[in-house]
Amino acid sequence: MLVCLSMAVDRCVCHRVTFAALKEMAAQTGGGIDDLSEATGCSTSCGLCRPYVLLMLKTGRTSFRLLSAREARAILDEEASRRPGSGGA
Ligand code: FES
Repeated sequence: MLVCLSMAVDRCVCHRVTFAALKEMAAQTGGGIDDLSEATGCSTSCGLCRPYVLLMLKTGRTSFRLLSAREARAILDEEASRRPGSGGA
């Protein structure tokens, strides 16, 4: 498989929903990642979009360069630490 590393990441490929559409939905509903996942399926299949969706919710950006595995892990770990019962902030 050929992967273009310079391509922007702007959607959940599995569920064909753009981060722009997710951003609009979040703005209208006030929902977080779990609400967006429940409504659209984003982040519920391969999960590769999850750090990007979290970054979108945090920054408002809807298009990203490809994150390194380390960057994606840090974003996911930060989210996990914020979840109730995690003992985090
Ligand atoms: S890209 Fe979003 S679940 Fe696979």
